[in-house]
Amino acid sequence: MSDTLLRGRLLTFHQEPVGPDDTDAYSYIEDGAVLIRDSMIVASGNYDEVAATSNGAKITDHRPHLLMAGFIDTHIHFPQVQIVASWGSQLLDWLNGYTFPAEAEYANAQHARAMAGRFCDLLTDHGTTTAVAFCSVHASSAEALFSEAQDRNMRMIAGKTMMDRNAPDAILETAQMGYDDSKALIAKWHGRGRASYAITPRFAITSTPEQLEMSGALANEHPDCYIQTHLSENHDEIAYTATLYPDARDYLDVYESNGLLGPRTLLGHAIHLKDREIGAMADTGAHPVFCPTSNLFLGSGLFDDAGLRARGIQSGIATDIGAGTSYSMLQTLNEGYKILQLQDQKLHTLRAFHWITRGNAEVLGMADKIGTLDAGTEADIVVINARATAAMDVRMDRAESLSDELFVVQMMGDDRAIAQTYVAGVPQKKETT
Ligand code: GUN
Ligand code: ZN
Repeated sequence: MSDTLLRGRLLTFHQEPVGPDDTDAYSYIEDGAVLIRDSMIVASGNYDEVAATSNGAKITDHRPHLLMAGFIDTHIHFPQVQIVASWGSQLLDWLNGYTFPAEAEYANAQHARAMAGRFCDLLTDHGTTTAVAFCSVHASSAEALFSEAQDRNMRMIAGKTMMDRNAPDAILETAQMGYDDSKALIAKWHGRGRASYAITPRFAITSTPEQLEMSGALANEHPDCYIQTHLSENHDEIAYTATLYPDARDYLDVYESNGLLGPRTLLGHAIHLKDREIGAMADTGAHPVFCPTSNLFLGSGLFDDAGLRARGIQSGIATDIGAGTSYSMLQTLNEGYKILQLQDQKLHTLRAFHWITRGNAEVLGMADKIGTLDAGTEADIVVINARATAAMDVRMDRAESLSDELFVVQMMGDDRAIAQTYVAGVPQKKETT
C-alpha cells in the first residue's frame, strides 16, 4: 500500500501541560503533516519537511482542521449501547432496572455481533480510536467485540464481565466458569493484533469472595493483562459492599486483599474515597477513572481530581456509556470541566486534550504506541473541525489563541466536530473534509 500524507494544523503532546503557557509540553504546527506507512506514523512535523521525505504519498489536505492523536476512552460498557439515557434512577436501581436486562440479551451471539459493529462505528464517529470496554458476562460478547475490532485493526482492551451473585440468573455464572471463560479469552485474544485483555470482575456486589479470589489468581497468572472494575461510585453501593464484605477495611480492600491492585488496574468512578484507600491507590499505582457524564447522570457525586493528583495518583477519564450519556470524549471533557468547577478546581483545556490522548495512553502504559503523533506510533488520528456547527462557527470568529479554540471544541464539540477518524491509518468516516 502506498504511503499517506495528511496535511493540517498539527497538535501533539509530549507531557502533561502544567498550564496555558507550558509550550514545552506540546508541539503545535500551523502547516503540519503526518506521514503514514503500513498503519504506522513514520514522520510528523512541518509540512515542507515531511513532504520532502514522502515519495509518491497520497496527500489528503485537511487544512484548516486540526490533526490530533485519536481519543482514548478508558471505561465504557459495550452491552449498554441500547440503554443510554434511561430515566430516573441512581446506580443500583439503574443496574437492576435497565442494565442487567439489556446485558442478558448478549447471550445471543448474533445480537452481540450486530451491536459490536454499531459500537465500534459510534466510537470512531466520535473520534475514539482506543477503548477499554466491559462486555457482558457471556464469553461470546467478548468474542464479538474483539472480532469486530480485529476486522477494523482497532486497538481494543476488553474483558467479559465476571459476576456470580446479586443479578438475574441469565447473567450469572459460577466462580469457576468466570475463571475458565476469562482464561480461554486471554489465551485467544490477549496480545493478538491490537487486542489486550482486561480481567473484569464487575464490582464487589456481583462477585462472591470466591470469585474475587479467582480473579486475583488470573491476574497473578497473567500479570500483563489489565484489570478493570468499579469502586465507590454511590453511597448505597458502598454501604451494601460493607455488609457483603464485613471483614474488609474499606471498599478498596475488597480488591486489594485479592491482589487486584497494580499499575494496570482501572477503577471506574472512585468518587467517595477514604484516606486509606487513596494511599493504597498511590502505593500500588492503580488508576481511578473519572466518568463525568455518568457521575452527573446517575447523581453519583463529584470526582476529586485535584485531591488525587496531589497524592501523586494518575487518573484516567472516560465516557462510561451507558450510564454516561455521550460517546464523545469532548463532551466528557465538557462535563468534567463543570464537575471540577463545582469544587473550585481548574481543568485547563491543554491539560484536557492531553488527558484524552497521551494522558489516557500513559494510564494504560501505552504512550509508546498511541496517544501522540510521534513517529513510530500507531496511526490513530482525529481530524477536528472547530467550526463544525453554526454556534461553534460564530464563537470561533472571536477565538484569540490555540487554547481559546480548543476550549470551544471541548465545551461545544461532539461527533460533528470530528471531520475524520483514522484507525491504523485508514479513514473510518464516510465523508472526508
Ligand atoms: N457498577 C457496576 N456495574 C456498573 C455499570 O455497569 N455502570 C456503572 N456506572 N457502574 C457500575
Ligand atoms: Zn462502568
